[in-house]
Amino acid sequence: MEKAFTLVQITDPHLHASSEGTLLGMNTEDSLKLIVKRVQEEVSNIDLILATGDIAQDSSVGAYENFVSFVEPLKAPMRWIPGNHDNRENMATVAQGTDYANAITELGNWVVVMLDSVVPKKVYGSLAQDQLDTLKQALEQFTDKYILIAFHHHPVSMKSQWIDKIGVKNSDELQKIIAPYNNIRAIVCGHVHQASDVVINGFRYISTPSTCVQFLPESKDFGIDSSGPGYRTLTLNPNGEIDTHVSRIEGVDFKIDYTQQGY
Ligand SMILES: [Fe+2]
Repeated sequence: MEKAFTLVQITDPHLHASSEGTLLGMNTEDSLKLIVKRVQEEVSNIDLILATGDIAQDSSVGAYENFVSFVEPLKAPMRWIPGNHDNRENMATVAQGTDYANAITELGNWVVVMLDSVVPKKVYGSLAQDQLDTLKQALEQFTDKYILIAFHHHPVSMKSQWIDKIGVKNSDELQKIIAPYNNIRAIVCGHVHQASDVVINGFRYISTPSTCVQFLPESKDFGIDSSGPGYRTLTLNPNGEIDTHVSRIEGVDFKIDYTQQGY
């Protein structure tokens, strides 16, 4: 029997070089370490870690080095893509000699395509022409495989006015490219610090909680959610189906500064 592949999505850890670093009052190193411990307890034999951006909050080389060392106990290959808080050059420095930045990963019947949706110095995202070309080429090449696409920014509405302003601006171009392909099984993002799993125009869009602070779903204005840090497993089955599950750390009294009006 053909094998299923187990992916673990770890997103938006917002790490700093310093272990004292926080996001909205929460120590992001402590929460990521709890998540990694939880993954170790819950998932065996990880085929791939998907780190979908905002890996660093301070965009320092030290933060990326920290991330690599914190996920090392999971003993799994990793792919990472930047988010709006990240620095591509510093990520490239730390990724030297690794395959973290590979856009295309073949796993049996499946191909994972990782794209860079960052617009430098902007919170919103966009898929630049080279990224759209990478996607087009992959879709043309791998018509006989199931496809999972991942990038940082959300390409569809989260029913949240402030968040919808900071998604992928050129999502219409993405939609045009993917429209003819029925082998695309999901489009996965980070950025929104909340879980969602919806089907729009026949395509499945999945978002995943941050390993630190969460944002309030379906909120008009910026709002912090008290739900715990989380991660997602994605099991890619040989028949093209995806089983997915979000796991959160509950019952830990994380310090959060609810007075903040933005991040
Ligand atoms: Fe983030």
